[in-house]
Amino acid sequence: MENKALLIVDGKEYELPIIVGTEGERAIDISRLLQDAGLITMDPGYVNTGSCKSAITFMEGEKGILRHRGIPIEQLAEHSSFVETAYLLINGELPTQEEFTNFSESLNEHSLVHEDMRAFFEHYPSRAHPMGILSSMVTALQEFYPALKDKPQEEQINITFARLVSKLRTLAAMSYNISRGHKVNYPKSDLSYCANFLKMMFDSPVKPYDIDDDLVHALNVFWILHADHEQNCSTSAVRLVGSARVNLYAAISAGISALWGPLHGGANQATIEMLEEIYRAGGDIAPFIARAKDKNDEFRLMGFGHRVYKSYDPRAKIISGVVHKVLGKLNRHDPLLDIAQRLEEVAVKDSYFIDHKLYPNVDFYSGILLRAFGIPTNMFTVMFAIGRLPGWISQWKESIDDPDWKLHRPRQVYTGFTKRDYIPMNQRGKK
Ligand code: SDX
Repeated sequence: MENKALLIVDGKEYELPIIVGTEGERAIDISRLLQDAGLITMDPGYVNTGSCKSAITFMEGEKGILRHRGIPIEQLAEHSSFVETAYLLINGELPTQEEFTNFSESLNEHSLVHEDMRAFFEHYPSRAHPMGILSSMVTALQEFYPALKDKPQEEQINITFARLVSKLRTLAAMSYNISRGHKVNYPKSDLSYCANFLKMMFDSPVKPYDIDDDLVHALNVFWILHADHEQNCSTSAVRLVGSARVNLYAAISAGISALWGPLHGGANQATIEMLEEIYRAGGDIAPFIARAKDKNDEFRLMGFGHRVYKSYDPRAKIISGVVHKVLGKLNRHDPLLDIAQRLEEVAVKDSYFIDHKLYPNVDFYSGILLRAFGIPTNMFTVMFAIGRLPGWISQWKESIDDPDWKLHRPRQVYTGFTKRDYIPMNQRGKK
């Protein structure tokens, strides 16, 4: 195959190098196009544009492949834990026992949040969405935990990573308890990361929360499946904001805000709200399938479709299996699962969805699993954010270490007025 592309503009030829990735992906390098040919490219939504080279996550959309540092998501979901997968993403290798122990101890050491942060929660509007609270709290962490200037750079960064991974989970549980006017539960160093979260969320002086190992395992799998996903919208936000060399907390706060959108991480909440609407309407899915296919109706089948996966999202497959296991363990039946399964059965056979290559994505079943844990719907995207945090951190770290690093500043094609003069106030509006 050719390792260069030939561009001919106004009869002049420009040779553009072709970059080839380790999995054979090919990209035309246009980094000199403006300088050599006076041209830029246009690509709304960056559908066809790569923003960086990355060694963290590989996705192959047509085959539904997802690997982190080369390891298939199916193997990580089966054998790993969320903390171990976080270590793999951030450091590039699975940890030795000693490295895992040190990382876990660091997460415990930094699991508390400054008591003054409770004042934020207590004066935040009670009806505020947890994603808005989380984004604000994470930005505030910079002021409560400024860089430790007396320590070596590498150690400072690793402590900041541990603070974020541990405190985001604590902040989420704290926010939930304060929003209900309940006692805030503190993390305990003798509990694993996921068990700690469930205990902090649901422990009550009236009814102590009994940790169920199957639910803890399911939560590990849920967060492993959300840990990273190459250059998705929120990760691109972290890289873009991070490219201005702001502190990591501010870059992560930008990622949280981007993830909040219903077309992105907010889809897990939007999917459950859609399933509840179908349930309240009597469970008939036909009108909703028809609306999803109607060009004149902006309704979309939430939890369906993906910019990269043009086949089944491998994460949706795994989550669907975990949902059945957890509901079986809890001996619970969720009518929304029946509706979701009927939607999937009909959609995957419908020519509209087949032609548009629309399949269930990670958000289609994840809300049903979160309901089984007892997580409130408005915290579903917070759960996504906790899972995605190690991915954001690893992508930020890779970007600041990238020799090709540049401040992100896209160009545009101007389509406004050509040059015209200022009109004094008393002459405006006169033809
Ligand atoms: C996540 O990028 C990532 O990796 C994200 C993520 C991650 O882990 O970070 O995987 C997490 O965000 C998953 C996606 C969650 N969002 C949803 O479930 C919301 C519903 N889905 C969509 O809105 C949509 O599918 C997107 C946003 C996910 C992807 O859309 P694209 O790639 O921008 O495609 P598009 O909006 O241009 O749609 C292409 C066509 C259009 O029809 P035409 O005008 O070409 O005829 O497909 C149609 C769309 O109308 N379409 C849908 C649809 N999704 C796309 N029609 C009905 N229902 C849908 N869900």
